[in-house]
Amino acid sequence: MPAMPLTRRQILTHAGLGGFAALYSASRVGADGEPSPSALWPGLERKLHDAADRHTRELSRRSPELRLESARGAYTADLHRGGVERGETTRRGIAPDGLLTFAVNTPAPVYVRGTLALSSPPDLRPGLRAYVLCDSTLIGAPMVRTQASWGTAKVTDPAPSVLGNEPEDRIPIEPFLLPAGRHYLTVAGPHFRSAGAFQSLTLSITDRAVETPLCRFALITDTHVQRVGQSEWMNIKMGGAAPAALRDTLRALASEGVSFVQHGGDMTEGATRDEFALLSSVLRDQPLPVYGCLGNHDVYHAESRADALDLLSRHFPSGALDYTYRHGGLRFVVLDENISNPKTRDAKRRWLEAALQQDRKTPTIVVWHYAPLNRGGVSNCGFRLEDWSKAGRESLLDLVRAAPHVVATLNGHDHWDEVNVRDGLTHLQNAAFVEWPNSYRVFRVYPDRVEWEVRQVANRGLVRQSFAARKALSWMIATADGDLSGSFPLQRPGV
Ligand SMILES: [Fe+2]
Repeated sequence: MPAMPLTRRQILTHAGLGGFAALYSASRVGADGEPSPSALWPGLERKLHDAADRHTRELSRRSPELRLESARGAYTADLHRGGVERGETTRRGIAPDGLLTFAVNTPAPVYVRGTLALSSPPDLRPGLRAYVLCDSTLIGAPMVRTQASWGTAKVTDPAPSVLGNEPEDRIPIEPFLLPAGRHYLTVAGPHFRSAGAFQSLTLSITDRAVETPLCRFALITDTHVQRVGQSEWMNIKMGGAAPAALRDTLRALASEGVSFVQHGGDMTEGATRDEFALLSSVLRDQPLPVYGCLGNHDVYHAESRADALDLLSRHFPSGALDYTYRHGGLRFVVLDENISNPKTRDAKRRWLEAALQQDRKTPTIVVWHYAPLNRGGVSNCGFRLEDWSKAGRESLLDLVRAAPHVVATLNGHDHWDEVNVRDGLTHLQNAAFVEWPNSYRVFRVYPDRVEWEVRQVANRGLVRQSFAARKALSWMIATADGDLSGSFPLQRPGV
């Protein structure tokens, strides 16, 4: 995320960015002294799951289709109070912070597609209508769309009061991988308005065979960890809550068999030694290897790079901030954020050229905090997207394009989700972990391709706290159709 450099005083006092500060001492307690939604979530999730479990449905090759209706779901209207009720037999209105959850069992992994029947929301501002989740995987993010682009002066500006188009009542859910076991499918309100009335969610197994991946890994970016505090950017950066959320996410990934995690930069909020030490303690407290990457927030001080190497040495295993590693049949080339800096550009370019030259056979993924390529244009709900991929970044894109074994680039920084395929090369940009939509990607590596899906932090209370409802700024969760899941080949087409 672009930002003015912080002064030492701002960082020490967690005063945040550019006058946007709206800080509280802890995320566990709200401004009213009551437990926060994130603190209430574990108990509420248990209650939702217990209630949903009573009506568990099976999806299998023997019964390959399923229609979920609200009578078989468990519903909560409010993440602040946490009451759970049974669904109703007919249409269920989903409140802004409402969650309607169903339990589904599958004996073997299958690819599933679906249709969500959901009436129009009561207001038609462009943006998110509802989340559709399988556990914490985002399998749908239907939008109110508009023909007119409604770009604002700044990406942090609230959504304007313009009306979008009346949306379709039937929303296709693209195929997603449903692993074996018990899962919880949830339709959730978008926080700033009701989702409309839920009618049904139908699921059907596709013919596609499920293969066992060679390995799985995750890209998590823009964690902006800090000891305490939160601050407003596009939504609410929950830096003080990020360490615990990151630890919980990494533990959950490890327990499902994910092999390693790549960070996309902005590991810390203010690049203090204390924040690097905090991140180090979080990463030590869980079993997954995590590979580091410096973002602009990690280099605010002259001593930042030395501090990062000192305190996060396990996460820069070659002892350098530009480095390569191999995992799961892939080679990763990780870049310090400063390759676009005129003072260091030439040396960095030479390092990258040499790194790409060293191995021209292994499928290679380049990781950099900044986007080598933004597409600009408008998002799928009409928001005019910034193109921040200029300003000296073209030279990196040229180098990467010229290396035929580079199959993808991964980045963070912009805090919105974006996927672009150009010249057979896939550019994947994660939204932020620290602020809404609190998302990250999980990748499955196969002999000929890599598949990916987008997930959110599992704590829906934290997701709620990360969203600034009064701004109604919800375009960054998915900026194009099809960007919540997909795949890229391990051989560049035409190369
Ligand atoms: Fe960031």
